[in-house]
Amino acid sequence: MNILIVGTGYVGTTTGLVFCEMGHQVTGLDIDEQKLKSLQSGKIYFYEPGLDELLSKHLQKRNITFTSDIENAIKDNDIIFICVGTPQGEDGSADLRYVKNVTESIGKYMDKYKVIVNKSTVPVGTAELVTTWIKEKQEALIPFDVVSNPEFLREGSALHDALNPDRIVIGSESKKARDIMKELYKNFHCPIVETDSKSSELIKYAANAFLALKISYINELARLCKTLDIHIDGIAEGIGYDKRIGNSFLKAGIGFGGSCFPKDVSALLYTAKKSNHRLTILEAAKEVNETQPIHFIHMVKSKLGKLKGKNIAILGISFKANTDDTRESPAFRIIDRLLAEQANVTCYDPKAKIGNQRVIQQNNIENTLRNCDAVIICTEWEEFRITEWEKHKSIMKSPVIFDGRNILEKSKMKEIGYEYYNI
Ligand code: UDX
Repeated sequence: MNILIVGTGYVGTTTGLVFCEMGHQVTGLDIDEQKLKSLQSGKIYFYEPGLDELLSKHLQKRNITFTSDIENAIKDNDIIFICVGTPQGEDGSADLRYVKNVTESIGKYMDKYKVIVNKSTVPVGTAELVTTWIKEKQEALIPFDVVSNPEFLREGSALHDALNPDRIVIGSESKKARDIMKELYKNFHCPIVETDSKSSELIKYAANAFLALKISYINELARLCKTLDIHIDGIAEGIGYDKRIGNSFLKAGIGFGGSCFPKDVSALLYTAKKSNHRLTILEAAKEVNETQPIHFIHMVKSKLGKLKGKNIAILGISFKANTDDTRESPAFRIIDRLLAEQANVTCYDPKAKIGNQRVIQQNNIENTLRNCDAVIICTEWEEFRITEWEKHKSIMKSPVIFDGRNILEKSKMKEIGYEYYNI
């Protein structure tokens, strides 16, 4: 099948390459010429394990091409995936301006039946809106169907997730469109949930919000554990074996970040509010997440005393491991607090860049730890777990570790002479 992917960002690029793997012909469309140039030359412009190789393979086989020519791209393809960003608006709602731009172009240029698929995370009712926007721009009555087909991939394991989804959700009022979508996904071995477009749109928010709830629940329990002198990871293990609970997303830390959870939680709360409902559990989860870095800094202050003039090393600024994405990273909340207290902050991340003039970024762990009064681990990169902590001790001014992701073993760190504090 010929597929057009509009928006060659994170989700769009991964989705396009996965369709190439499944034997389809893909065109990637974007307005950003720099991104297109990079992708056309075989370079993924963000860090995601495995994508570079896949891009080279499919460029070579001519299974994928990139263009900014929207008119021809729409005319040449019968299935159009919308994968543009839906950033958070000021009131917490999802900003649909990019989706609107794309759909208006589709309406303007379409010349025969098309299936228009929303992959971007969009509020309930967007499929209906998209239908209206397209119709408004059509000069002749050309039939089309709109499908909601949310993406559940995680950054850092995008390829694996997109190739091995737990389920595929197809939401549309049109049987014809659902059948085309099922044909498109026929090589995937997972359940397909067929539903209406509004349910499909809500499924995405409900899934992300539920995972956010799990994290905030374990983080709030961790606060209680601190007082009771109990290790939270043991509690997570003990409850996680219960299949009804499940052991994933129970890792306590400095809170969730990224381009999805904070934004999607706010958007769902906004949707509820607009319908005169309160999702009180989700409100609480949001609050726990917002206060989690503050709790952590309180602990740092209670151990180090005044932070003014202290040299603090930060390991990890990306919102989680295996990505260079720093959007809504809890590390930044910690760094901002440290700077507000006039500490000197030096950081290191294997992939992400800081872009804050007041923070010095080093290119390895050793240079970051040199002469520091304490180190704070903000991201769960494997490199930080396996590094030679025994050796690093002597280069730090004082060997104090605050482990914001619980990646090190308390007893081992104490044994080699560190003062060690975790979540
Ligand atoms: C998430 C969803 O997992 C994915 O299905 C959806 O499509 C997009 O949003 P992503 O944002 O890439 O994916 O990251 P994820 O791995 O879910 O982690 C989100 C945040 O939660 C990170 O900051 C991570 O460090 C944190 N987290 C995750 C925890 O603090 N504890 C956990 O146990 C799991």
